[in-house]
Amino acid sequence: MVSFLKSKPAIVFIVFLCLALLYQFNSFHKEKIEPTKNGSSCSIKEPLNPNGDSELALLMREMYDTSVSLKTSITKGILPRDFPQRFRSIHSAKPTDPTVKTETFKILADEYLKGLKALSNSKKGELKTNYNESVQKCINCHEAFCPGPIKKIVKLKFTEI
Ligand code: HEC
Repeated sequence: MVSFLKSKPAIVFIVFLCLALLYQFNSFHKEKIEPTKNGSSCSIKEPLNPNGDSELALLMREMYDTSVSLKTSITKGILPRDFPQRFRSIHSAKPTDPTVKTETFKILADEYLKGLKALSNSKKGELKTNYNESVQKCINCHEAFCPGPIKKIVKLKFTEI
């Protein structure tokens, strides 16, 4: 009995140690997995770090913000006339991870620019559909290269047309 009482704290201590180790292992594991899952290059960093961000990441943020304001305008039935020419620099902007600049990237980037062009030529009745299609082009590329922000991008779409 005495020895049992003596060993009880030891057991509690060992259990605690195991839990702590398990926790440690889990967070270690997570750190290891995260970059491959989301692509180390494409997390949505908050707060933003202007020194560490690639040209492409900065352009993407601008594209995201432009999409938000486009959506607001389209809700009011207005389409800003100026096609954002600077988004063409999606081809030349340096990414965090240089290996993303493949032939597939090029094709998907052109698809996106085409979608934007189609949107800028839309009739009033087609605005929401064409806007959603242009957002889908963002998602298509993200599925291939950078799944991290997809959840956020999907929210840009109109759910009712
Ligand atoms: C042709 C491929 C492609 C298209 C099209 C594309 N993206 Fe991206 N996006 C990327 C890649 C690659 C990154 C990673 C950039 C980096 O870190 O260098 C990225 C990063 C991002 C990020 C994270 C930026 C950050 O803070 O690090 C957001 C948000 C984003 N894109 C939104 C969008 C939106 C919105 C659109 C459409 C309007 C879009 N993307 C279209 C490939 C694409």
